[in-house]
Amino acid sequence: MNAPKETLRDAASARGMKIGVAATLEWIRCEPDYSATLARHFNLLTPENAMKSGPLRPGPGEFDFREADELSDFAREHGMALRGHTLVWHQQLPSWLPMESGERAVWQPVMEHHIHTVASHFHGRVECWDVVNEAVADDGELRRTPWLEALGPGYLARAFHLAHEADPGARLFYNDYGAEGRGMKSDAVYRLVRSLLDDGAPIHGVGLQMHVSEENHPAAEDLLWNIERLGRLGLEVQITEMDVRLRLPVSPDSLGCQAVITRDMIDACLMADNCTAVTLWGFTDRHSWIPGFFPGYGDALILDAVYEPKPAFFAILDALRHQSSSSGE
Ligand code: G3I
Repeated sequence: MNAPKETLRDAASARGMKIGVAATLEWIRCEPDYSATLARHFNLLTPENAMKSGPLRPGPGEFDFREADELSDFAREHGMALRGHTLVWHQQLPSWLPMESGERAVWQPVMEHHIHTVASHFHGRVECWDVVNEAVADDGELRRTPWLEALGPGYLARAFHLAHEADPGARLFYNDYGAEGRGMKSDAVYRLVRSLLDDGAPIHGVGLQMHVSEENHPAAEDLLWNIERLGRLGLEVQITEMDVRLRLPVSPDSLGCQAVITRDMIDACLMADNCTAVTLWGFTDRHSWIPGFFPGYGDALILDAVYEPKPAFFAILDALRHQSSSSGE
């Protein structure tokens, strides 16, 4: 990799923020370039899948923390903070859960035991948790997940209280996609977290996932407006899963567009006092969820499949090194 001497993490630290990435243990173990780049450029690590309930819970009453612990150890050994992802989600649930049952008597103990056990296990190691992930549907209503069906809307506040009881030092986030700029879902997430705060839930921040594309991404000014209105509630904001997918085959123009979008998102975070981190959902096009979920799209990350930096890599470095042009520099 012919990257510049300066690292993303040094540039981010100089601006008082974290640059994070979702990581997978398999690639750390078998690709030296992957683990070296991960440690060199990032100071915040999110296990892409290893801390989700399905991977953690092979059987009823059974937890397997080995993979998540190895990722936690990697982060600690390389001076990286750890983001916990995620305690309550409707996807990647344990295979043994009786999905057909909508009974509180089934789902309440599962949620309570899960949050207590997992947040206690990582006590003192996780800097911030995505306590609840993607609870708002695209129409702005609460998503009709097994958690909502069985437990009612109160499951959200309860999840935050349980996580806080298990690890009072962790900052607790609500995390979602499609709520980055202005719009119905963004307003719905704003109302949700405001109501959680009003009800006394220990929520400290909002994660804006930022899975975007050339055609569909928030305007930088709308993202900044949204971050700042969440800040007026006293909430921290992090960009938690950024990738900018491109229609394949890419071109110099589309790579340039990706770099501009990336820069705009970083600039908006840098301009807001309450935006504390930007996490990418992977860093090399060699390993990304996008091609499997968005046929015809790919190349969503900042290094290509052979770890060469793309224009988006330099866009992040440039944004971190300088105030944005709109700040009058
Ligand atoms: O680990 C198993 C493997 O043993 C098995 O052979 C293989 C084939 O069945 O599946 C593997 O698990 C896959 C897992 O990724 C690890 O590769 C799951 O099937 C697959 O569904 C899972 O996809 C993940 C997806 O969440 C699940 O919804 C993606 O990697 C992950 O990037 C994606 O991340 C989510 C965030 O957690 C929440 N926000 C949206 C984001 C994108 O969907």
